[in-house]
Amino acid sequence: MKMLSREWLEEIISLLNERIVVVNQEGIVMYMDKAYCDFINTTMEEVIGKPVQDVIENTRMHIVAKTGKEEIQDFQPINGSVMVASRFPIVIDGEIVGAVGTVNFPDPEDLRGFKNNIQQLVNDLSYYRSEVEKELKSKYTFDDLVGDSPSFKKIKEFAKVISGSDSSVLITGESGTGKELFANAIHNSSLRGHHPFVPINCASIPEELLESELFGYEDGAFTGAKKGGKKGLFEVAKNGTVFLDEIGDMPLSMQSKLLRALQEREIQPVGGQKTVPIDVRIIAATHQDIQKMVEEGTFRKDLYYRLNVIQLEIPSLRNRKEDIKILSEMLLKKLEKKFYRKGVMLSPEVLERFKQHSWPGNVRELENVLERAINVLDDHIIKWNDLPLYLRELKKEEENVHQQETHVKRDEINLSLLPIQPLKDTVAMVEKQTIINTLEFTRGSKLKAAQLLGIGKTSFYDKCKAYGIK
Ligand SMILES: Nc1ncnc2c1ncn2[C@@H]1O[C@H](COP(=O)(O)OP(=O)(O)OP(=O)(O)O)[C@@H](O)[C@H]1O
Ligand SMILES: [Mg+2]
Repeated sequence: MKMLSREWLEEIISLLNERIVVVNQEGIVMYMDKAYCDFINTTMEEVIGKPVQDVIENTRMHIVAKTGKEEIQDFQPINGSVMVASRFPIVIDGEIVGAVGTVNFPDPEDLRGFKNNIQQLVNDLSYYRSEVEKELKSKYTFDDLVGDSPSFKKIKEFAKVISGSDSSVLITGESGTGKELFANAIHNSSLRGHHPFVPINCASIPEELLESELFGYEDGAFTGAKKGGKKGLFEVAKNGTVFLDEIGDMPLSMQSKLLRALQEREIQPVGGQKTVPIDVRIIAATHQDIQKMVEEGTFRKDLYYRLNVIQLEIPSLRNRKEDIKILSEMLLKKLEKKFYRKGVMLSPEVLERFKQHSWPGNVRELENVLERAINVLDDHIIKWNDLPLYLRELKKEEENVHQQETHVKRDEINLSLLPIQPLKDTVAMVEKQTIINTLEFTRGSKLKAAQLLGIGKTSFYDKCKAYGIK
């Protein structure tokens, strides 16, 4: 029988819905049909004999001609369109001699389905992006910072003034004084206020993860890393503010890396070579005596100076007792909403007691005491008996908190009265109370509390979170 002529073959190929290219084993173009040539604005004479990579965008024909592995229905962008490409090795007498490839537009139905799927993904993405952005907006403004005492008003005014500058701020003050609230308010009224506010608690992130949290990581940087890598918080905070909370707990090795990033205004994601420019303002906070840490060599002096361009020292509640009344009123308003109550007030004796107390946990402690009282309240007046035991004890705890032993004495706990219930509930109850007692004793220092309890700080933070202890 007579073989098909070249004209016949050409005609048959042109009738098919696909464009065809043939390469030899070296990936040199041996044939390309007219429709394909027209599609990429060239001619057969022009392309024959050229490496296929020089002729077709994003081609993999030369690879298939080498590997002998077919590739079916691969999406390949060519000339601004996404094409569906299939590539087959040509095997003659058991040897790979080249490859044939076809491309065509996807089936209109498939294309529509594909477009719908993508549109759905784009919609989901924009929803999650707006949710994340909402999360990253700082939640408080200066109006949320309550206090009429001269020392508080002075620091609030100062914070307002410096919020306009772009310099780093170091906020110090005892636990629960409102450092995080100040950081939020400063960001909000700064020029960066419409950009993200990204808080990170340096104490609660395990040392080995801190760098990748802050600077991100490249694909395959370590086992368990997410495919495609992950942006670090410095990148997430672009044009906004990074709030480095508990900076005193940052390990020394990380301090050096942070210093370098701040000096060079760029970061290097973990496991990568490239550097990424950063544009963020830094607000750092700590309840620790950071100057002492510098003297002792546990905090880098150069980093301290870099962070401490502006320092805000938030006064503790015991030094502004005149604020207790107005703070209690504001906190009660907040709690009334949470507990569906109305018109809750403090009795004069309770207010008097509050004024005597030393408030080692500051405003957070006041908030906790009021929340506890509202929980057990019969009417709308908080009285002596609604206070926790340690406040009902009249002895001066000013001396007490400085003692080197916890103020809840062992013999006060009557173990025979423990309720009969699943053991894990009792264990949890005792664990929670022990943590609360220890935090009171350490005046809110979580690090010290974790040390006293003989557990790691990460595990301590996890427990606090699990028991809702702030
Ligand atoms: N001046 C204030 N006005 C209103 N609420 C305040 C004020 N100060 C603190 N608070 C409230 O007290 C709680 C503790 O504040 P915040 O978390 O900012 O303290 P902090 O200084 O960061 O404490 P820590 O060192 O333990 O992290 C929060 O619930 C906050 O809303
Ligand atoms: Mg804080």
